[in-house]
Amino acid sequence: MSIQLSDIQAAQELLRGIIASTPLLADEALSREIGSRAYVKAECLQKSGSFKIRGAYNKISHLTKEEKARGVIAPSAGNHAQGVALAAKLHGIRAVIVMPQYAPLTKVRATQALGAEVVLSGLSFDDAAAHARELAQQHGYTWVHAFDDERVIAGQGTIGLEILAALPEVSTLVVPIGGGGLISGIAVAAKSLKPSVRVVGVQATGCAPVRPSLEAGHPIAVTAAQTIADGIAVKRPGDLTLPLIRQHVDDVVEVSDDEIARGIFHCAQYGKLVVEGAGAAGMAALLAGKVPVRPDDVVCTVLCGGNIDGNLLARVIEQVLVRQGRYLLLKLSLIDRPGALARIIEKVAEAGANVVDIFHRRALWLAPLGKVGVELVLEVRDDEHGREVVQRLETAGYHVEREGLGLWPE
Ligand SMILES: Cc1ncc(COP(=O)(O)O)c(C=O)c1O
Repeated sequence: MSIQLSDIQAAQELLRGIIASTPLLADEALSREIGSRAYVKAECLQKSGSFKIRGAYNKISHLTKEEKARGVIAPSAGNHAQGVALAAKLHGIRAVIVMPQYAPLTKVRATQALGAEVVLSGLSFDDAAAHARELAQQHGYTWVHAFDDERVIAGQGTIGLEILAALPEVSTLVVPIGGGGLISGIAVAAKSLKPSVRVVGVQATGCAPVRPSLEAGHPIAVTAAQTIADGIAVKRPGDLTLPLIRQHVDDVVEVSDDEIARGIFHCAQYGKLVVEGAGAAGMAALLAGKVPVRPDDVVCTVLCGGNIDGNLLARVIEQVLVRQGRYLLLKLSLIDRPGALARIIEKVAEAGANVVDIFHRRALWLAPLGKVGVELVLEVRDDEHGREVVQRLETAGYHVEREGLGLWPE
């Protein structure tokens, strides 16, 4: 069976009144940046924090009474875990989620809170999946695959129907790819309704098997999965999804973690939306200019998940502020005598900068004897203000080193 528009429309009927109808929002800042009309589908506001409920609910809806009575199982430490847990709860059936032993406690708790039984097993995702297979055999649970399943793909495809209904003039869809279920469903839906729509997939550079797989003509596994976009860190595309991607997706591009960080920041700053790395990959690709667009294009990217850890979000925001020149990292050496630190702080205050962090290091730096190393993190208005602060310190006789990351536009 290959997926038809009618399967996706049937899934939409099943999901009616069950899932949140997530908004399609104009993104003026993105439009300005890329020079064509831009929109986001805010699926980060979906129940369970991502689109995963759509596919899981559709899959479970089609199980027989007996299968439902036995329950479902899935290995996952990510959004699929919560999507399956919630879908099973809504159907009133048992869900077992197998996670690696060291899965973050927040994910374990969130999945349990949705009513699933969490089994911790093995050190890696592959170990957890092997254990899940054993449990499925022993207990007759139905496997809910995260992407390589027609019902799951059809469920995810309902996002495509919603985008086309809300924005019929859309000409380019930009969609993150992990295993490929999300983009396959969206692409089948969108191209069936409007064949001229261009669909562009986005992977993280740290885990990008889709382009080599398309070139090879079969799924290829990469060994590394190093990215802040853990939701799309899937090492091998699916046997079902790869042919669908080949048939319906026009292009696949890759984004670095720095670019993904900028995407997350953009969503928070301009969209007032909390979006995780995988969910911001499409935004990242657009901001980085990796998806060529024309002025008459109408572009939409799917912000497909919002389950980001608070610590990571804080680090992302800080890093982007450095990149935008709003945080200034300076290194100076001072004479080691009373009042030297106070004087430098005075200069900083005169320049109108705010001290975020200050490190006064005697031992760690290889500063000449009689001097100490000082590292300053300052908040400034913009890059120009930052340069003024540095100049003021240099004029006052300090030798200043500015820690540089390449600067980004705001
Ligand atoms: C937030 C988010 N975005 C995108 C994806 C990719 O979906 P797929 O594996 O169907 O390509 C996932 C998968 O877990 C996800 O959690």
